[in-house]
Amino acid sequence: MSNVFDVIVVGAGAAGLFCAGVAGQRGLRVLLIDHAAKVAEKVRISGGGRCNFTNREVGPTNFLSENPHFCRSALAGYTPQDFLALVGRHGIAWHEKHKGQLFCNHKADDIIRMLLAECDQGGVTRWQPCAVQDIRRTLADDGCRFELDTERGPVRAHQLVIATGGLSIPKIGATDFGQRLAAQWGHAIVPLRPALVPLTFSADTWSPFVPLAGISLEVLVSAEVVDGGKRSRHHTVSFLEDLLFTHRGLSGPAILQISSFWQPGQTLQINLAPQHELAGLLKQAKVGSRKQLATEWALALGDAAPQRLAQTWLEQFCQGSTGGVVGLRPGAPLAEHKDKDLEALGASANHWHILPAGTEGYAKAEVTAGGVDTRELSSQTMESKRVAGLHFIGEVVDVTGWLGGYNFQWAWASAMACARALQPLPEVA
Ligand code: FDA
Repeated sequence: MSNVFDVIVVGAGAAGLFCAGVAGQRGLRVLLIDHAAKVAEKVRISGGGRCNFTNREVGPTNFLSENPHFCRSALAGYTPQDFLALVGRHGIAWHEKHKGQLFCNHKADDIIRMLLAECDQGGVTRWQPCAVQDIRRTLADDGCRFELDTERGPVRAHQLVIATGGLSIPKIGATDFGQRLAAQWGHAIVPLRPALVPLTFSADTWSPFVPLAGISLEVLVSAEVVDGGKRSRHHTVSFLEDLLFTHRGLSGPAILQISSFWQPGQTLQINLAPQHELAGLLKQAKVGSRKQLATEWALALGDAAPQRLAQTWLEQFCQGSTGGVVGLRPGAPLAEHKDKDLEALGASANHWHILPAGTEGYAKAEVTAGGVDTRELSSQTMESKRVAGLHFIGEVVDVTGWLGGYNFQWAWASAMACARALQPLPEVA
């Protein structure tokens, strides 16, 4: 019996560790397997090393999925407050940052230690590092439905939980193992793509903005989104967050958020001065102003925009970049400029349309969008509707959270929904 378990969980990341601990504490014999040498590396590097472990306000609208209501039941069954209570029981100090995001005061390792302690309390057996070489379905007399060949020998179980995550950050052991296994056993896969990821631009598009690398400011970024389904519906998704100019393109929370919605070939709209209508301010300032265009432009952009951005933007605009008007003179008095040229200058920053060439890819993406199609999973238990006893939890599933602690809350909530439903091996007469 030593190689027979009620449940085998593959993937000892956020979702796998949590699920294993809860199932173990429910009295199930649980084996947790991970091929990486270090446990939960993604938790360790998350939130800049402090792990943004949840968000105070979590709802289905904070997630992308081809089946947007799927996450509702699991999220309602295990809330941020439930996770906070667990964090509190382990004496982990935390603080709230921006927009309900909760972080550890000390280090993300606090969360890993907590998850490991919960596994210990549940008597979970953890094999790590241990590669899974093969997984087969079986119909054994003892009720086992799955056989695994692993580096540490064969094992069998009544139920199998796949918690192998997505493709982001391959250098710390990310694989598409779970998605491939699902496809092999007949599951549809929503195409995978990097999400919460910096955007890149062609060298031609980007060269005027290279001097702005390092500048960060609050912007309103928007993208048109087409909902799938029978009647496709267009709507605009917007985020008011910080944007960061880089040497290769754009990053920062605003861009990471919108990247999850961005489709190749699609233009983004960025308002670099969301608190001001720049054309109006410039035209107002014209009355009675003796100041130069450059001075009034910097004043119109306001304190939020660094001086270097105001200056570079105007220079580029006057050279015809950013939809600009050749012939505007930064050193000439504002009053000498035509209203229509000032309107164009204001609009260039209030409605900057820019076409990304691509993303920084899985090497820089915080998550992988797409995954195991949820229409073939139970939203109550995460069990496959195709293969009895098989479950998928966490990022491997086509549920992708916004930036801000939502992805971990999905990992905890989907793991809990699954763990509550797992059953011991049936008694054999
Ligand atoms: P996770 O990736 O955590 O775990 C999967 C496990 O499966 C890994 O341990 C891996 O080794 C293992 N595995 C993979 N293939 C295997 C195989 N073939 N055999 C055996 N084991 C295998 N989210 C958030 O809410 N707040 C935050 O602050 C951050 N910050 C953040 C920063 C960075 C840099 C990244 C890359 C990501 C984040 N995230 C985040 C996202 C978050 O880390 C992610 O959504 C969760 O870790 C997903 O949890 P899972 O358990 O599903 O996968």
